[in-house]
Amino acid sequence: MKSLLCPVCKNELSKNVNAMRCENSHSFDIAKEGYVNLLTGSKSGNLIGDNRDMARSRKNFLDKGYFETAAQAVCLELSSFNPSSVLDICCGEGYYTQLITQVCDAEVYGFDISKEMVRLAAKRKCDATFFVANMSDIPLADSSIDCAVHLFAPFCEKEFLRVIKPGGCLISVCPGADHLWEMKSALYEKPYKNEEICPDIEGFTLTKAFNSTHTANLTSGEDIDALFKMTPYYYHTSPKDKEKLFSLDSLETTIDFYIRIYLKD
Ligand SMILES: C[S@@+](CC[C@H](N)C(=O)[O-])C[C@H]1O[C@@H](n2cnc3c(N)ncnc32)[C@H](O)[C@@H]1O
Ligand SMILES: [Zn+2]
Repeated sequence: MKSLLCPVCKNELSKNVNAMRCENSHSFDIAKEGYVNLLTGSKSGNLIGDNRDMARSRKNFLDKGYFETAAQAVCLELSSFNPSSVLDICCGEGYYTQLITQVCDAEVYGFDISKEMVRLAAKRKCDATFFVANMSDIPLADSSIDCAVHLFAPFCEKEFLRVIKPGGCLISVCPGADHLWEMKSALYEKPYKNEEICPDIEGFTLTKAFNSTHTANLTSGEDIDALFKMTPYYYHTSPKDKEKLFSLDSLETTIDFYIRIYLKD
């Protein structure tokens, strides 16, 4: 197991009953669900990142398997590297982290800045270590991770470069051009396709970029609502447009993951 690092002094943390402690006596409680909160200062982890409602919607929706085909495509790429350690950056409520534990014989770590997300992830009881942290200050040693996955989340190139080993990989997923096209068409008169970009990341070489696309048949208003709530559109759509979606009780929509694979030089 890799040691997590103390967010205050950067020394290694070790387990001491129900806490993680460093040699300078900085101490972080292990929650009853088994995760540790390594955010310091005023950033409590309750106030930032995705909130309780967003976390629950994401979990409810993903657990129904609507994204599974694309999620398995990510796992297939990951397992081809035969990693011995995997980090799920911005792991959310742990749906992908759990799948990773099922396909890779590796030490698996997942973190997110949202305490509620990490709490739900840890409740999955899968064989992964979960912690609350900010990706701009990942509490792991330099070059300690073989492969990192990063789905639908913001970027922090400097930290990704630091924690991944030379020759290791970063698998980054963003919405493909057609992702949720039919949902967007139901909401908006003039929906836009997502722009697919492969940013250059210093210290990494892009080796592959492809789409994993399938159709999901959402069979209840509840599922449509849960999908909508886990997208940014929920927060930027007028009540009038929202009504158009809420009146539906089924929706066939495209799931399109744009998967980019980078190797660390
Ligand atoms: C759209 S969700 C994706 C979650 C998960 N990867 C998934 O696909 O289900 C984005 C996640 O990034 C997290 N996040 C945002 N900023 C972050 C940061 N600075 N450090 C760590 N996590 C962050 C949010 O709390 C949220 O859980
Ligand atoms: Zn310390």
